[in-house]
Amino acid sequence: MNNKQINVLILGSGGREHALAWKIAQSPLLNKLYCAPGNPGSATCATNLPVDISCFEDIKQLVLHHNMDMVVVGPEDPLVSGIVDFFASDPELSRCFVVGPTQLAAQLEGSKEFAKAFMQRHSIPTASYASFSTSQVEEAVAYLTHVKAPYVLKADGLAAGKGVVILSDIKAAKQEVRNILGGKFGSAGNRIVIEEFLEGIELSLFFLTDGKSYQILPQAKDYKRIGDGDTGLNTGGMGAVSPVPFADDLFLKKVEESIIRPTVAGLASEKIDYKGFVFVGLMNCKGDPYVIEYNVRLGDPETEVLMPRIQSDLLALLVALSNGNLSREKLTIAPDYALTVVMASGGYPQAFKKEYPIEGLNITEEGAIVFQAGTKYLNDTIVTSGGRVLAVTAKHPDLAGAIDKAYRLLHSIEFKDAYYRKDVGQDLLSL
Ligand code: AMP
Ligand code: GLY
Repeated sequence: MNNKQINVLILGSGGREHALAWKIAQSPLLNKLYCAPGNPGSATCATNLPVDISCFEDIKQLVLHHNMDMVVVGPEDPLVSGIVDFFASDPELSRCFVVGPTQLAAQLEGSKEFAKAFMQRHSIPTASYASFSTSQVEEAVAYLTHVKAPYVLKADGLAAGKGVVILSDIKAAKQEVRNILGGKFGSAGNRIVIEEFLEGIELSLFFLTDGKSYQILPQAKDYKRIGDGDTGLNTGGMGAVSPVPFADDLFLKKVEESIIRPTVAGLASEKIDYKGFVFVGLMNCKGDPYVIEYNVRLGDPETEVLMPRIQSDLLALLVALSNGNLSREKLTIAPDYALTVVMASGGYPQAFKKEYPIEGLNITEEGAIVFQAGTKYLNDTIVTSGGRVLAVTAKHPDLAGAIDKAYRLLHSIEFKDAYYRKDVGQDLLSL
């Protein structure tokens, strides 16, 4: 791709896609930016186009009609369903580059068994495991008696982030193995992966790869549980912070040497085509990194703290990615902290009401951005339309300042029954 004026399409409709749109909109290389389907937040920096992103034929029509040069895929589903292969196999789409892995490479997220076997082949540190199919229920149950509690049970396929169950009681674990292989998560549970439990602190690491080289993006910590102090149900993520103070230079060096390099080399040696973002869920076990999972996309709400810290032109980086020149790029990251607090609909992650008007979205303070996630227009008013509604984001030279600023902004925004965690970033203050 030439460094001409580029037309870009972002697929998705959450806070991650608003954050990507916000960042790409700042690029001098950009001609026109589109988001499909987007939300009222992305509409402030891109043109939203209504489309069902699971329908690749419809996306093709948009790409041809608007002369798109590049597609950035937000969520995993289109990648796991093969959108990159769809574009590659259609001559009419050959001039449009899709940021993301091929369907085979997307199995790193789409199949836990595929990811574990890949890591084993390339000596990438991860929890030891065994995997079983639906015809091996009794073997899977028996296996539990050979391993120590807590029992980490994972449906092999995509299960909307709900496919991991951790239990201390062996009786409950045996029953859960039967439930998963019996169809609790549908076809995602046609195989089960049973893993060793890793003790430590989690963090998310991101990099871009063109299959030969890589550029490391900022790390982030995600607050996954609904309640303060990491209690209650799992969610898509209730807040995020970047950088992560416990990820010091020594730890990050270990991550690069033992995880990033062998991952990229492993993809290359197996001729698995991957030009896109890699999100590695890591456990810091007494100073050593272990991979919990790969995702083949950026995280949400992690992207909302990554984008404000990337000083370089992200679009220039993605153009270099398309040309296989990623190693020539210089990526600059701001030393500041970015922190985001998710404002959710009361009741989330269970049932919640929608269509409440949102007040106070017009914030113009330097270093403050309200990324919209579950919002829509109802007549001329922006209303709630999803579980995670807003990601209220602040940038500040220090963590305490970022916390204060994000919560001060959040307190100026209102919608009925809004819920948010009060402790995002607090656990990192003493580190
Ligand atoms: P995943 O969907 O693979 O990210 O797993 C969801 C969550 O389960 C992770 O974010 C971890 O908190 C936890 N988890 C997954 N695998 C393990 C493991 N082997 N040991 C400890 N916790 C784990
Ligand atoms: N925040 C976790 C994820 O995007 O999967």
